[in-house]
Formats: sequence, C-alpha cells, structure tokens
Amino acid sequence: TSELATFNRKNFVEVHSIIDSTNSYLMRRLPNNVAHGQACVSEFQSAGRGRRGKEWISPFGSHLYLSMYWYLEQGMSAAMGISLVVGLAVSDVLQQRYALDVQLKWPNDIYVNGKKLAGILVELEGQSIGPGNCVIGLGLNINMPKQSAEKIDQPWTDLATELGDEIDRNVLSAQLIARISERLEQHHQFGLTPMLDDWQRQDFFYNKQVKLLTGEKETRGVCKGINSSGALLLEIDGKQQPIYGGEVSLRGA
Ligand code: BTN
Repeated sequence: TSELATFNRKNFVEVHSIIDSTNSYLMRRLPNNVAHGQACVSEFQSAGRGRRGKEWISPFGSHLYLSMYWYLEQGMSAAMGISLVVGLAVSDVLQQRYALDVQLKWPNDIYVNGKKLAGILVELEGQSIGPGNCVIGLGLNINMPKQSAEKIDQPWTDLATELGDEIDRNVLSAQLIARISERLEQHHQFGLTPMLDDWQRQDFFYNKQVKLLTGEKETRGVCKGINSSGALLLEIDGKQQPIYGGEVSLRGA
C-alpha cells in the first residue's frame, strides 16, 4: 500500500499571491479537492496561524509560507510523529544544501544558533481510528522586515542573517517539498524508529533541564530525547516518562 501512496503522490504546487492562510486553504479543499502531496505557497497571509492559536506574522514577499496535504493511510495513530518527521526533513535540506547547523525543538520548532528560524503547524482531520487527513504548514523566515521583527516575542533568526546570500525561494520550496515527501514516505513504511538517531543528533533539549507546561501544571525534568511514538522522554526523579503534549522550555530560561 505504501507503493500506492508513492505512486499517487502529486507534488504540484499552487502559488498564491494573497491568501488568508495556506493551511486553512488546503483544509477547505478537503476531502475531495486536494491530492496526496499537493502543496501550496503564498507571498502573503492575512491570517497566518501559529501553534496554540497564536498569529503567524506573514509580511508580503519576505518569507516562505508553505503547506502540504498528506493522506494518512495508516491512521491518526501516526499523527504524533508527523511534525517530528517534517522537522527532520527541513533540517536535512538546510544542512545538506545550505550547510546550516540546525537544532530541533520538540515537537516542531527549527532553531539555528539558539534562535527560531522556522515553525511547523500540523493539522489533522479524521476519527481516532482509521485513515485521516493531514495538512502540514511550514513558516520559514527568509528576510525579516523591521516592522514585523518588532512584533515577535521570542528570539528569531532568518536565512538572510544566517547565510547572507540571496535565497531562491522557488528552489528552496522545491527542495523542501521533495524532502518532506521522502521523509513522510519513509515514516509510513518504517515508522519513527530509524529516524531517532537523526533526531537525537539535533535535539535542542537533549540532557537539558527543562520545565514542561501542560495547561496550568508545571513539571520539571531532564530531557532524554524522544521515543518511537514521538513522545518526549522526560526524566523525573530518575524515571523516564513519555510526554505527549505541552509546551517545553529551558529551566530557568
Ligand atoms: C509555529 O511555530 O507556531 C508554527 C508556525 C506555522 C506557520 C505556517 S506559515 C504556512 C502555514 N499557514 C499557516 O497559517 N501557518 C503555517
């Protein structure tokens, strides 16, 4: 069946100039008006969305706003791993093609030199059992305008700062779409286990003291990587516990 998924994948890209949100756009096309692997980019988003209901500031022509639709044949149980797999794919491209040293912050932020370069927003539609629909959104900073920079409340960086060169966003988009598809197909066939080493090499939190925020509750522990379901492993009082959701930040930070 995974061959079927590969065979049916269509990585055509729709290019928009103005859109509310590339994720919302693909979600609206469900279930019948979007093909497995179909992608969409826009120069501008009037209602770009980040995780936890936050706004994703999306100035015209400055960054990369990319979404891709993926049919989750093996069901929603695989969904937890998706954002991790996409993070790895983005880091593959940045490392192999642009020689950037990338770190991954569980579950889905991409960091360079301790600052956020890109974020991933995975949205799912479907029942808890059986196949589902998945829209993957990637926002990657290319060249941050001053007015936008002032509105961002966390340390950020962009490719212009890290590489200095002019980046061809078309080339970069094509590289990302190809690599994200490859990684998702590998994940579909073999699961997360063969990717755990790759993840650990770039794990921003590995062996660090962190605090985990789940709703109102704060837990402290030491990060010990991730497990094969994509859960974060937190060592609390000498025992490793899998964490499935929540916001992690460095302790004392
Ligand atoms: C985050 O770090 O909070 C995730 C940010 C995801 C932003 C991207 S930009 C393309 C796609 N469309 C959206 O509205 N959001 C995602």
